[in-house]
Amino acid sequence: MRHIISIGDFDRDGINRLLDHAGQIDRKKYDAQALDGKILAVLFFEPSTRTRLSFESAIARLGGTSLTVGSVEACSIAKGETLADTIRVVSGYADAIVIRHPKEGAARLASEFSTVPVINAGDGAGQHPSQTLLDLYTIRQSMPIDGINIALIGDLRYGRTAHSLASALSLYNARLHTLCPRGLELPETLSARLEEQGMEIIAHENITDIIPEVDALYVTRVQRERFPDSASYFNVASSYRITPELLADAKKHLIVLHPLPRVDEIDPRVDEMPHAKYFEQSRNGVPVRMAMLMQVMQ
Ligand code: CP
Repeated sequence: MRHIISIGDFDRDGINRLLDHAGQIDRKKYDAQALDGKILAVLFFEPSTRTRLSFESAIARLGGTSLTVGSVEACSIAKGETLADTIRVVSGYADAIVIRHPKEGAARLASEFSTVPVINAGDGAGQHPSQTLLDLYTIRQSMPIDGINIALIGDLRYGRTAHSLASALSLYNARLHTLCPRGLELPETLSARLEEQGMEIIAHENITDIIPEVDALYVTRVQRERFPDSASYFNVASSYRITPELLADAKKHLIVLHPLPRVDEIDPRVDEMPHAKYFEQSRNGVPVRMAMLMQVMQ
């Protein structure tokens, strides 16, 4: 049984193999009945559009079916049932579980009580490994990942997509530039671990210093739901906005990525520029998650 809880569950060869497989799937080279008769439980205790629907699309495209719980209110956790008991029960109904939960560590806990593979679809400010795999897949469509100069911009403290991606990029000799509102820096434990692994991390204060330097901008939303109160959110919200004027200084091959949803971090006028890859990125969630499901469910 193989769980996918953290991007650290993969080594570089494992990531590359999965991305190659997703590429074959993207080229329609897959068995549409590969998971015929298999059932995926999709337990989402936080809102989602992309992750939930692309996992549901992925299992359907492979001939399987899904059982979905879209909120705490929609299941017996609302009556006081523990997550551990919920997982014990659901693993009797399905062949794998995809879980999103507001608490960091919830997916790991689920894996300890599940009798079927568990995939972490986002645990609080922890990890979001399927997002990272589709981020890497999207980068690889434009340029080699190896040696990339990439900027992480936005909420690096609570942003699980940033945490997972930074960890994965440490396997690819990436140079990491960071830009965030004060107080939303990468967690110290994570940046120390990445630097120990040899990753160069360069913190910036000015977006105009970053744009001409990098091959990719990975922009993230400041996540209102992770702040203790509205005042502390509004102190740092709307700190950065990527505009066509800012991108005038970018390298021609620069790509702009965002896990989405966006609020106001990317001007909609950027959508029409060749740099904008974030909608392709969200579409790539389907082949990448198909490859993940085949890895854990076959
Ligand atoms: N990128 C991402 O996780 O989007 P959703 O919250 O819509 O799933």
